[in-house]
Amino acid sequence: MKLFKKVMAVGLASTMVLSMAACGGGSNETTAAATTAAETTTAAEAEETTKAAEEAAETTAEEVKEATGDFDASNVTVGISIYKFDDNFMTLYRNELQRYLVEDLGFKEENITIQDGKGDQAEQSNQIDNFITAGVDVLILNLVQASSAPQITDKCSAAGIPVVYINREPDVDEENRWESEGIKATYVGCDARQSGTFQGEEILETSNGGDINGDGKVSYIMIQGDPENVDAQYRTEFSVKALTDAGTEVEELFIQRGDWDQAKGQQLTQDALTQFGEDVEVVFCNNDAMALGALQAIEAAGRKVNEDIYLVGVDALTEAVQNVLDGKMTGTVFNDHIAQAKSAADIAVSFLKGEDVAPVNMVDYTKVTTENAQAVLDALK
Ligand code: GAL
Repeated sequence: MKLFKKVMAVGLASTMVLSMAACGGGSNETTAAATTAAETTTAAEAEETTKAAEEAAETTAEEVKEATGDFDASNVTVGISIYKFDDNFMTLYRNELQRYLVEDLGFKEENITIQDGKGDQAEQSNQIDNFITAGVDVLILNLVQASSAPQITDKCSAAGIPVVYINREPDVDEENRWESEGIKATYVGCDARQSGTFQGEEILETSNGGDINGDGKVSYIMIQGDPENVDAQYRTEFSVKALTDAGTEVEELFIQRGDWDQAKGQQLTQDALTQFGEDVEVVFCNNDAMALGALQAIEAAGRKVNEDIYLVGVDALTEAVQNVLDGKMTGTVFNDHIAQAKSAADIAVSFLKGEDVAPVNMVDYTKVTTENAQAVLDALK
């Protein structure tokens, strides 16, 4: 755990600025801060924050005590619904959430029910109705469709059950409503603008800034997650924005939805490479699962990452980080499921203790390149 914190310090220098801006500012300010913060990260800053992060590692036990206080979790029931179990990243998140609730906060395993939404909002809404009927004490929900939040929030609120939404962010009007109406609902996630910016920077940091064929522009394909999801929208927009903000000309050859799925990532990349061949210089994937699929298609087409094509993802799945280390992916971005799980669980406890909770709670991303990939890998094990 100590090493883990140390590695993550690489991202802290930039992301602390982002968090501060995110707390106080509107979305434009946050956007500007994300970009500025990402631009101003230096190795020296990263080193400085390493020390602070090490110290933070020492206080983990205290932090847990602070989060739980005298709270007795042993009889508290928790309903959790994940948008679908068949999602690499959300599986890591789900396992960590359960582990943290039981091992660190003292919840009883039998009091935690975790349901699979199977990518079907109607099915998930039924599960939530059943949780309400059973009278669970708190809900942690990863919605299939974030647009269902108003309706679901109202039901939970009427039943007096606090809700912690995770991973798929409801829209800002809904979040504001929780605050203005004093509804016990909140969101825990990451600001996906930051992960997109980091992806773009990883391309800018290559020897030719992404312009492999030297024609003065970066020609890319974009493999998107589920476009209803704000993570997919922001990563798509901000990865490219990092290039254009740096004065790089870009050309979008292809953009398709791959729904976070490896097989779809492979198929779409194969299609794009067939259609555009060597013109494709950069493959942006909104997540690592799709990047793993893209890599299969890249290799099958006889192309070589970091030589004649660049490839970036988001999440830092172990396999993807290993690929970064082996030079088979240009980079990825750590979507910190450990900090998000901790924050979601701690905030659930805050609700149960009757404390005030902010409507939005953001966790930072960390860039993963060949320089820190080994350390990230060791920390994730
Ligand atoms: C994203 C993550 C994806 C997928 C998605 C589900 O944050 O990067 O891999 O898990 O959430 O909503």
